[in-house]
Amino acid sequence: MSREIRVSDDPAAEVAERLTEAAMAGDDVVFTGGSTPKRAYELAAERDADWSAAHVWFTDERCVEPTHPDSNFGMADRALLSQLSAAPSVHRMAGELGPDAGAGDYEAEIRARMGAEPRWNLLLLGMGPDGHVASLFPGKPEIEERSRLAVGVPLAGMEPQVPRITLTMPAIRSAREAILLVTGESKAATVARVFGPAPDTSLPAARVELRYGTLTVLLDQAAASQL
Ligand code: 6PG
Repeated sequence: MSREIRVSDDPAAEVAERLTEAAMAGDDVVFTGGSTPKRAYELAAERDADWSAAHVWFTDERCVEPTHPDSNFGMADRALLSQLSAAPSVHRMAGELGPDAGAGDYEAEIRARMGAEPRWNLLLLGMGPDGHVASLFPGKPEIEERSRLAVGVPLAGMEPQVPRITLTMPAIRSAREAILLVTGESKAATVARVFGPAPDTSLPAARVELRYGTLTVLLDQAAASQL
């Protein structure tokens, strides 16, 4: 695996550009939730590329209705998917089914299209202030899952405190390319713990290593300030 850590003046614009390229190539692209990627989705929407050959997946979901303000799909739909003239095929996690049934359905959907080792073309990740990625939280059992591709998370490690559905580390690690997008000073100390000289491997973000591709850690100046 290889990893690159890069500081950018405008990480959201870079991600929007990469998303647009992947869309036009008809790729399998995995979206993530949280406030940081939202700006990238909005900027990608402004480009209004032809997404019709692409497939959009999700790293994780909150167990709420898709129209709920906390839904990751809902956010991506409002920011990007519903704005496009030529929309992709969307594989959303059915949070409304609850964590276990929703994860079971997603696992089947992934295996049907991508096989047991989903080689997503592009997978986006954000990182929480506690070092979580997707809905894999530090100290929770889901981080140790080795055989399943999607699991239910009955107890979230952070707000919003609703159960989640998440891709597992094996599913994340099989991507051909991943971008971990982290911005803002509030994440700087965690960025230093994860990507500094002595990585704290209890933090899920420190365990993201791609088996076949490159992970780009894309930071703004503020997030990189303690590195
Ligand atoms: C979620 C996300 C999560 C997110 C990080 C960063 O559902 O909560 O998928 O992993 O990417 O928490 O979120 P912020 O950008 O909002 O800090």
